[in-house]
Amino acid sequence: MKIVVIGGSGLIGTKLVKNLRQHGHEVVAASPSSGVNAITGEGLAEALIGAQVVVDVTNSPSFEDKAVLEFFETSTRNLLSAESAAGVGHHVALSVVGTDRLPASGYFRAKLAQEALIKASPIPYTIVRATQFFEFVSGIAHSATSGQTARLPSALVQPIHSNDVASVSDR
Ligand SMILES: NC(=O)c1ccc[n+]([C@@H]2O[C@H](COP(=O)([O-])OP(=O)(O)OC[C@H]3O[C@@H](n4cnc5c(N)ncnc54)[C@H](OP(=O)(O)O)[C@@H]3O)[C@@H](O)[C@H]2O)c1
Repeated sequence: MKIVVIGGSGLIGTKLVKNLRQHGHEVVAASPSSGVNAITGEGLAEALIGAQVVVDVTNSPSFEDKAVLEFFETSTRNLLSAESAAGVGHHVALSVVGTDRLPASGYFRAKLAQEALIKASPIPYTIVRATQFFEFVSGIAHSATSGQTARLPSALVQPIHSNDVASVSDR
């Protein structure tokens, strides 16, 4: 099967591309660093020629509320439209557990908008929702630390290792 991984150079994308190739698929790792841009549309049509599946594991370069919403709305619209033109049979996207339960977060609002566009499209889809990756833990600790003091909320989290996310996304 020809599978295009949009965001194939990222944390999850790199692992996913490796797993899918090990399963014997023809895999294109697509991202701006390889000339495929889901925001401008550059290189998309060429990358999708003959593809049966597109997996979207992109992430926004900015997590600022407006920028992240624009990123996921524009990239998802462009991807779905290019997939429709290329006759792609399935769209897979990685989202976040609890996306619909934290509207105060601009990032979660953007992921929910991404999910809504995918659900409204005629292309068959799978949305994989993962919890926070273990790799995020040091970033959370850093952002909560001031001097020698770390202030963390009492909220419970159940992180998942990125290898486990990649192995679910390739099934
Ligand atoms: N981090 C978490 O805890 C977590 C939890 C659950 C779900 N997720 C979801 O997992 C997904 C992937 O996250 P990640 O941490 O693996 O991301 P990441 O390491 O930051 O990688 C982002 C990828 O997006 C690509 N990209 C950026 N702008 C693009 C554009 N305009 N067109 C095409 N590709 C573009 C980057 O390409 P270049 O390298 O070429 O710039 C890179 O391959 C996200 O959608 C996120 O919401 C994350």
